[in-house]
Amino acid sequence: EFSPIDKAKFVAAKRAVDYVDDGMRVGLGTGSTAAWMVKMLGELVRDEGLKIKAVPTSNRTAQLARDVGIDVFTLDEVKWLDLTIDGADEFDPDLNLIKGGGGALLQEKIVATASDQMVVISDASKSVETLGAFPLPVEVVKFGWQTTKALIEECLSNVNVLGSAVSLRLQNDAPMLTDEGHYILDLHLKRIENARELSLILNQVPGVVENGLFLDIADAIVIGHGDGRVEVR
Ligand code: A5P
Repeated sequence: EFSPIDKAKFVAAKRAVDYVDDGMRVGLGTGSTAAWMVKMLGELVRDEGLKIKAVPTSNRTAQLARDVGIDVFTLDEVKWLDLTIDGADEFDPDLNLIKGGGGALLQEKIVATASDQMVVISDASKSVETLGAFPLPVEVVKFGWQTTKALIEECLSNVNVLGSAVSLRLQNDAPMLTDEGHYILDLHLKRIENARELSLILNQVPGVVENGLFLDIADAIVIGHGDGRVEVR
């Protein structure tokens, strides 16, 4: 049976599929909400003959897309996309996001940036006034990651953020590896007042590949509610 959160994710994904037109080049997001969207697109491809060029944002999504009958392409084969539909871990009133809870932030950011339009699908519980309650994921190369972590901690003490605990993301007691073979550091910041500045300084630290702040990237957010209502911002 569906929990209210699952229902909310489902109805958001369902509405977002309306943005997909025949012939489009579409970025496929990662996560449980995006997985609904991929399954629904698969149905349209199989049953209604919808033709799209799909670029997945993770190995997981690529596998799912193939399983449901969607041909997948690499970003280099397609280069630019019409639309990306992806989930988020938090969104604020200006449509800025934190992403990367599923560890796919790097490919997600590259794909979203290569798209004319990014539509976010989310349940209402991820709406916040100020980003930061969700730990901010930062993808770092393995080489010297502890030094990179220390440099990030130093940066955090220079910008006005509440809290500054940084933790290495683990999976089965070992560092979690991203699809690109990197590590993820989670920054427990509580409240990010100056997201733009923070994003810039994080990406200047040697060893940092990308951070999970998506600023001025999303064009619309489709918000699902547990009772089946959908709101578009
Ligand atoms: C993946 O790296 C994330 O950016 C996801 O988009 C995010 O974690 C949302 O996941 P759910 O839809 O499972 O909540």
